[in-house]
Amino acid sequence: MPRLQNKVSLITGAAQGIGLATARRFAQEGAIVIVCDIKPEAVEDATRQCQALGAQAAGFVLDVTDRARVDEVVKQVLDRFGRIDVLVNNAGITQDARLQKMTLEQFDRVIDVNLRGVFHCSQAVADAMVRQGSGVILNASSVVGVYGNFGQTNYAASKFGVIGFTKTWSRELGPKGIRVNAVAPGFVATPILGTIPDKVIAELEHRVPLGRLGQPEEIASVYAFLASDDASYVNGAVLEVSGGLVV
Ligand code: NAI
Repeated sequence: MPRLQNKVSLITGAAQGIGLATARRFAQEGAIVIVCDIKPEAVEDATRQCQALGAQAAGFVLDVTDRARVDEVVKQVLDRFGRIDVLVNNAGITQDARLQKMTLEQFDRVIDVNLRGVFHCSQAVADAMVRQGSGVILNASSVVGVYGNFGQTNYAASKFGVIGFTKTWSRELGPKGIRVNAVAPGFVATPILGTIPDKVIAELEHRVPLGRLGQPEEIASVYAFLASDDASYVNGAVLEVSGGLVV
């Protein structure tokens, strides 16, 4: 029995990588999938992929840093489907540099997308979820947000911040029937790793007790679990999905 039957699930950054794998997994679990991303053609393609898996799906071009657009998309989803059951705050970027080299532009951009974007989307859906008396918000953190990482001042701060959101909203929204959790993946084979040299990737793999990078589907399955009633008592948690890697 599909675990997310007819759950209206909005996924940001759903055009590729972990977001796309999550959209596809949610489609297989029976969800109504709302695909959101900044890349118009990839949004269409991902939406079609979900439909091909038998799901109802709709695509929206959405930049999570654009609050007016976030509100507009949430309104359109509510007008069309009547509710939002699950929000997966997956959109995220990196712009790496050591502390002494990092520009303010690099700092601001990563905080804008990874932290402020999560705030925008969560605030935009919260009223509807409270009215429904139910909902699930899932936030993309990272092992880098837990342990820090060389060259990732901005990214580590944003992902640590997301854990702060998760803990706070689980307290504020838990009493309203809404669960809020974070997933902290290790290193997962997606385009986001494109800037990391092959040698460093090989070293990373060596340090993972399971001996390899994660696959996007292995994060998607955790999002599906957390979104489902199988996780009905999981709230305010940060679930590390890293093959045992400690950065
Ligand atoms: P990715 O780079 O493959 O995909 C990210 C998606 O987000 C892209 O489709 C991109 O167009 C979209 N996006 C970027 N900026 C956006 C914006 N302003 N508004 C809406 N969409 C936007 O990345 P990946 O690897 O799939 O990562 C997904 C999430 O998981 C990110 O939050 C990332 O930080 C996190 N993560 C990834 C890890 C990895 O090793 N791949 C490890 C830990 C966390």
